[in-house]
Amino acid sequence: MKRPYVIVNCAMSADGKIALPNGTQLRISCDEDIERMYRLRNESDAVLVGIGAVLSDNPRLTVKEKYVKNPHQPLRIVLDSKCRTPKDSLVVNQTAKTCVITAEKCDTKFEDNVEVIECAADEEGLIDLEELLDILCKRGIKTLMVEGGGTVIWSFLRSDLVDDLYIYIAPIIIGGKLTPTMTDGSGIKSEDELISLKIADIKKLGKGILVQYKRL
Ligand SMILES: NC(=O)c1ccc[n+]([C@@H]2O[C@H](COP(=O)([O-])OP(=O)(O)OC[C@H]3O[C@@H](n4cnc5c(N)ncnc54)[C@H](OP(=O)(O)O)[C@@H]3O)[C@@H](O)[C@H]2O)c1
Repeated sequence: MKRPYVIVNCAMSADGKIALPNGTQLRISCDEDIERMYRLRNESDAVLVGIGAVLSDNPRLTVKEKYVKNPHQPLRIVLDSKCRTPKDSLVVNQTAKTCVITAEKCDTKFEDNVEVIECAADEEGLIDLEELLDILCKRGIKTLMVEGGGTVIWSFLRSDLVDDLYIYIAPIIIGGKLTPTMTDGSGIKSEDELISLKIADIKKLGKGILVQYKRL
């Protein structure tokens, strides 16, 4: 299947958590990692998040001038089967174009910079990622950066649709049994379903470590 090159980017604590125990966003990345993340966004044709991240973090998903001169604003994509993206959320602001990907008819009247694309659902009722990547490929998206949250990252990894995985590991502990992690989907059922990766690079970045994984 011809599809965009998929890069997952995530920041986690040393104990693998990506938010506070109640799901609230917190700053995990150091300044150096934030700059790297903005550069990666700038180099990507599109950036993608799930509706969970939109509702909890209200991200802009744009590239800040402070980090990149004359930034290129990638297409913003929200996986949102039931069309719950609030009209006033920052991800649909006028700074860039946005595609809201739904699995049903959407009645929300967004501004002109927002396109709603109806896509097939998978057996769990979530957006069928292969069909979505096919649609994006046909629209000229060559590089897609997936920014979370944990349910979305799990879906991409489980479907074997990840080419590069960047994890910034901060020297902090968050704790909590139910605290969101990088992969919050259903998980594997047995050892033979393990998702194996290879380490492409490891480096110290600011106070933490940046690990780049690739598909095996
Ligand atoms: N540290 C970091 O780098 C980072 C980055 C981003 C987010 N976060 C954290 O992640 C948490 C949010 O993550 P989350 O797991 O709750 O939500 P999420 O992964 O952002 O979104 C999950 C939702 O997206 C929709 N969806 C549609 N198609 C999907 C598909 N094929 N696969 C997966 N999801 C699909 C589903 O809702 P519908 O059924 O309604 O469509 C699903 O429940 C927050 O705590 C946030 O702070 C951390």
